[in-house]
Amino acid sequence: MTASGDVRLPEDAAELLEYCEVGESDRREMLAARPDEDPEWWVLVSALAGELERDLEKPLPADGHRAWPVVPESSTQVGMFAWAWVLLTGLPRLLEVHARRGVPEAVTRATVRALGGVMGSHREIYGRSGVGLMPLWGPPLRFRGADFEIGRHSFTRTEIGLGDGVSGHLLMVHVPPIGPLDAGVSEQSITAARQFFPQWYPDEPVTAFVCPSWLLDPQLAEYLPADSNILTFQRRFTILPLLPPSTPYEGDHELMRLALHLAPPDGGLTAEDLKRIPQDTTLQRAFVSHLSSGRHFHLRTGIRPFR
Ligand SMILES: CC(C)(COP(=O)(O)OP(=O)(O)OC[C@H]1O[C@@H](n2cnc3c(N)ncnc32)[C@H](O)[C@@H]1OP(=O)(O)O)[C@@H](O)C(=O)NCCC(=O)NCCS
Repeated sequence: MTASGDVRLPEDAAELLEYCEVGESDRREMLAARPDEDPEWWVLVSALAGELERDLEKPLPADGHRAWPVVPESSTQVGMFAWAWVLLTGLPRLLEVHARRGVPEAVTRATVRALGGVMGSHREIYGRSGVGLMPLWGPPLRFRGADFEIGRHSFTRTEIGLGDGVSGHLLMVHVPPIGPLDAGVSEQSITAARQFFPQWYPDEPVTAFVCPSWLLDPQLAEYLPADSNILTFQRRFTILPLLPPSTPYEGDHELMRLALHLAPPDGGLTAEDLKRIPQDTTLQRAFVSHLSSGRHFHLRTGIRPFR
């Protein structure tokens, strides 16, 4: 971004993409799909880049944050990579923020490699390069300095505000798709967060860890062994009561997309949809068996004290 507020794509884009662990073919395709040569996409990229800069270092607000919009399937490669360019445009400022707060280099690198990760998932789920068909919720938070990957988990600085003076800070815990959810490694990550956040953001005293996830659906205990990583992780949290989901299949879609890496249908899953789910693992079999009996999985929220 220039002093006049004009957005400019970084000159060292190729190096920055490598820093974000974007694979070679994705790097090549993205560099060949610059939005500053396409007036329509450029308007959108500039607007979103402005929003990213405006929100730099702000925690997740009490009323949440919306994923960036999914682009139409008919979009050109420029459209498919447009939001990745927005993230890259914010990277130099993010690196300054991390350095100023004393964030270790290993945490910074792990935090921004989400860009490479999301491109890999996009190819796997949609069979196309880019990031546009994926609802981007986490990556914008990482590139604006609200979310940090520390070991097994990433943590989002989150405000709570209930009005009338009820306010405070939480850390939202995420489980990125970077390998098994080993209990010991997960706890090391929690311990590191307890140490780091009070140093980096001393003006944001944290009350609790909170985790909204399909992983915390107690119904999974009907299918997975008690000593599975997922159920061990569940037991670390107090699960809050189930609130009515926005649609009955909200949790099914989330599990399908995030865990099974399959594109969910627009509405509920049909018998045909269920037939295309591989049946190699206990979770895949649980998914099909649960939905076949007319039930649904849910996103549940867990909470545990910060100390
Ligand atoms: C969270 C995650 C790391 C858990 O994996 P894990 O450590 O292997 O979990 P468990 O050991 O408890 O797995 C129990 C069973 O479910 C299977 N399973 C777990 N996650 C699976 C996945 N994403 N896809 C297919 N099967 C999976 C395991 O293979 C195992 O079955 P098996 O014994 O027949 O092989 C994994 O699901 C993952 O990477 N998910 C993507 C990220 C995600 O969904 N994060 C939460 C966002 S809210």
